[in-house]
Amino acid sequence: MFLKEIIETWTNPVQFIEGIEISKNDKLKIVEAGRFAPSAGNQQVFRFLLIDNENSNKIIIQSIEARDPRLASTLKQIKKPNLRNNFVYSIENFNAKTDKYKVYIYEHHFDDINCAKSASFFIICTHKNTITGKMFGHTDMGAAITNMILMAYDLGYHCRWIRIFDREFIRERFNIPLSIFIDAILVVGKVKENVEITEYKAKDVNDFYFYNQWDENLTIKDWQSENIEFNNYDIEVVDAIVDRRSIRSFNENKSIPRSIILELLKAGMIIPLTINHPYLKIIVVEDRSFLNQIAKHSKIVLKQSHVGEVPLIIVITYDCSNNSPGFYSETDSGSIIQSILLRAHTLGIGSCWIGAFNRKVVRKILKIPEDWHIPSMAIFGYPNNYPKPTPRVDLGKVCYYNSWKNHIKKRKRTLLPDYFALSIWFRKFRNTQVTTLLRKRKVGIVKGIPEFEQFL
Ligand SMILES: Cc1cc2nc3c(=O)[nH]c(=O)nc-3n(C[C@H](O)[C@H](O)[C@H](O)COP(=O)(O)O)c2cc1C
Repeated sequence: MFLKEIIETWTNPVQFIEGIEISKNDKLKIVEAGRFAPSAGNQQVFRFLLIDNENSNKIIIQSIEARDPRLASTLKQIKKPNLRNNFVYSIENFNAKTDKYKVYIYEHHFDDINCAKSASFFIICTHKNTITGKMFGHTDMGAAITNMILMAYDLGYHCRWIRIFDREFIRERFNIPLSIFIDAILVVGKVKENVEITEYKAKDVNDFYFYNQWDENLTIKDWQSENIEFNNYDIEVVDAIVDRRSIRSFNENKSIPRSIILELLKAGMIIPLTINHPYLKIIVVEDRSFLNQIAKHSKIVLKQSHVGEVPLIIVITYDCSNNSPGFYSETDSGSIIQSILLRAHTLGIGSCWIGAFNRKVVRKILKIPEDWHIPSMAIFGYPNNYPKPTPRVDLGKVCYYNSWKNHIKKRKRTLLPDYFALSIWFRKFRNTQVTTLLRKRKVGIVKGIPEFEQFL
């Protein structure tokens, strides 16, 4: 399936058809898409626990019914974001009593339970609490979740992303060590065909994004008028997941057409649960002077000269004024960015996730309020090169089966090649119908992406 098709047709499931068996191979393909997600410093801190036996299923349903005990907290003292939690907003200090977002958080909890009860299998999404994991693990996991949702849809299934559940109950029952953070549960199943689920319709692009600075409205009315033929660019979503890579050298003289930016913004809104809440806001920065200021002043330890070469930066923020949705939003933001990065790749746009930057400076330049945390930004432009792909660890290392540390067997030959390097090899054959041993399915006739292909 093309990503564009998914953007237009994917809906959040509210109920699955009961008793549907999904083959183990398909289950692993979905998890595997997760492991191809980008991660800060390529640390790949994510660990997935695949659950498909009856007893364990019951534990998961129980944990979802028990909700998230953290949401019952009435802690009085709320810390403001400060330099010490420059990267991730602290999740401990949180006051649910005064939470203005509570209504949004619980809005669809019934659907969570319904889906869990009728699901075919579950993926418990966790990450290691290493130094990088603490700073970026939640965001990394968001990216992995996007990949898994898309992959499942490509295979004919639906995923529901569950945030509200009793994490400590899950930890205890599945023996998950304290050095692991439990992010989310993905509930996977098959939905009845042609179900219109209107309450999850995404909000309007104009309402979700700010333009150039905080509180500046985006008006996309005129953006569609530029008639750019980009439909031909679409590559299959599985190719996008495997082929995407961080670009760190951009053509400084080439700006991105507005109609393409609009496609990116729509991609950021694929998953309605992440975007239908008022606590997330994204700023689309195109103004040259702001771009220059960000590039010049927001560096921290890393050089990051690529930030200065791009015509577009997307900055993601979430409200932590009373800290309540903070521990969900970090992951939401990763998911949104990954959707945009994938769409960018399919349109010939190079991109790079930026997590290491001075948030104080960016806050000042873009006039982001003190209470809004800035988990990440992403940069976009036409590539100057197409670097070698970054390797990923084996699926056997990041995926456990039914109990913690029960590694699935090493899988060398799977739907996706083990290393990105092989995807370069694929590109050479993409216009011919070849069935490969590596990918046990036909590689359809996919038009290449000239922007990247020129460097191969
Ligand atoms: C949360 C997060 C933060 C990141 N921060 C930076 C960054 O500050 N600078 C940078 O050049 N790349 C950054 N990256 C990109 C990763 O280094 C890159 O995704 C990883 O090395 C894997 O390579 P790939 O994206 O080419 O697959 C970040 C990625 C993530 C997910």
